[in-house]
Amino acid sequence: MIQGVQGNPTVYLNGDWLPLSEAKISVLDRGFIFGDGIYEVVPVYSKRTFRLESHLARLQRSLAAIQIHCSMQLQDWNAIFTELIQRNKGDDQFLYLQVTRGVAKRDHAFPDPAVAPTIFAMSSPFHPPSQELRETGISVVSQPDERWLHCDIKSTALLGNVLARQAAIDRGAAESVLFRDGFLTEGAASNIWIVKDGILHAPIKNHLILEGIRYGLMQEIAESLHIPVQIRRIRQQEIPQADELLLTSATKEVLPIVRIDQRPVGPEGHAGKPGPIYQKIRQAYDRLIQKLRSADQ
Ligand SMILES: Cc1ncc(COP(=O)(O)O)c(C=O)c1O
Repeated sequence: MIQGVQGNPTVYLNGDWLPLSEAKISVLDRGFIFGDGIYEVVPVYSKRTFRLESHLARLQRSLAAIQIHCSMQLQDWNAIFTELIQRNKGDDQFLYLQVTRGVAKRDHAFPDPAVAPTIFAMSSPFHPPSQELRETGISVVSQPDERWLHCDIKSTALLGNVLARQAAIDRGAAESVLFRDGFLTEGAASNIWIVKDGILHAPIKNHLILEGIRYGLMQEIAESLHIPVQIRRIRQQEIPQADELLLTSATKEVLPIVRIDQRPVGPEGHAGKPGPIYQKIRQAYDRLIQKLRSADQ
């Protein structure tokens, strides 16, 4: 039994399908030794992947950025995911894929190119945010962004993110909102949006943030709803004046942030409650998921 894991799901490891409890890798795997790998998290609704092409494109970008040469093609990843979904229980799942630089003698320099990457994929039950959470929203805390300068790579080396998330939990909040040099970057494991005067604002996507798959999706949704979007540097001092704060990620979808550092978010009268732009975006997000659920196979 692994703490927090229900049952014994079937996982994929280097070409084999086996129960999670039997999946083993070498202690010399560079993912274990150096955090030398990349990963993806893909949500699945009614056994159908959501935005898989975008996740796979980001996977390829991350692999290329750290020079992991992997012979897997798009159709190979597709085949693994399709089988993983079928082999595991539950209509709604989230898929986790990790590729590391493989197993070799411990040495910072890359191993011989003949060393094969380690490829691991698993599925977990996905419980999209409850109705209650969507209505009450979440609390966050501000934290300095103390991570490295390649946050655009979806690296498994997540110590900065882990410590930031734990800092939020320790203060009774769900997520940390990170600031670097006085500007908003993102959450410990999410992208952050602010709404001011009917405009949706997001930080510029550069090396300081991960381009969430919901980053592009939010822009598409906003455009379809005629909500103007401004992508720009957002000063930390602007946060207390925001009308709304939103958080997006594969597993949190889109959620309203109703308190930051224990202060209610939003204008007087509506402070501490999910705002109107959130409600509209939320409904549009739900429509996309509903469409996926009911699409013909
Ligand atoms: C640091 C960070 N930023 C942003 C995101 C949101 O990305 P996505 O929408 O692809 O889940 C995540 C997701 O885990 C993340 O870890």
